[in-house]
Amino acid sequence: LVLTLILAESSVELVPNEIAHHPAIIASARRKQREPSDLILDQSYHHAAIIRLRNAGAGRGRPDIVHFSLLTALGSPLNAQRELQCFVHTRDDHVITIDSRARLPRNTDRFTSLLEKLYQDSVVPSTGASLMSLSNQTLQTLIERQRLDQVVALSTQGIDKPLEQVADELQHFKKPAVLVGGFPDGHFSHETVKLSEKTYRIDKRRLDAWTVVGRTIYDYEKSIGLKRF
Ligand SMILES: C[S@@+](CC[C@H](N)C(=O)[O-])C[C@H]1O[C@@H](n2cnc3c(N)ncnc32)[C@H](O)[C@@H]1O
Repeated sequence: LVLTLILAESSVELVPNEIAHHPAIIASARRKQREPSDLILDQSYHHAAIIRLRNAGAGRGRPDIVHFSLLTALGSPLNAQRELQCFVHTRDDHVITIDSRARLPRNTDRFTSLLEKLYQDSVVPSTGASLMSLSNQTLQTLIERQRLDQVVALSTQGIDKPLEQVADELQHFKKPAVLVGGFPDGHFSHETVKLSEKTYRIDKRRLDAWTVVGRTIYDYEKSIGLKRF
């Protein structure tokens, strides 16, 4: 039994061409000694450029959400037990596969630099066992290739169901998956919702993605009776 966690439509992407010449991007590129188009878009440094994008760039350039969520997931007892598989699907249809033994940088700037290396080489580290790999893939392809037998999306637009009950439902399947949005605002696209058998709201409040990740894994651990001692 392995639970698959997919951070879906995540706000991770390379700097788009239309803002590659913006001073905020150029300054960042100089500091990192990289080409502007090889940088990961990052609200913390590129805000002035991001607001020039369509829709004022709402929800774009948030690698920190993926970072915190992955640290939470990879640090879980479920992952230590090798019963968790994590993927990051991005808003522009890239999929990052993360090895359960990956020890990610604890610092978000260093994580973002690692993503830049990943986008350049498609795999990190460049030698030895791969800890993260990148491919061009839609969420649908990922779901099909992983042969998932139940896909549940978590969203504030879903049907109300306490997470304990969602977890109980998941543990009846051999290869269930949970989709959590790797973005700060807005909702899953219709395509993502269509790919999910169920969409649940687990709390009346809107929670951060990493909080949802931590609680989902914990409730799933309890429902499968993961041994703690
Ligand atoms: C910061 S939220 C994204 C904002 C979006 N407006 C929302 O409320 O779903 C990040 C992700 O956490 C999950 N999430 C947050 N609050 C939730 C809730 N109350 N019920 C179910 N999922 C939730 C969803 O997967 C969401 O895409």
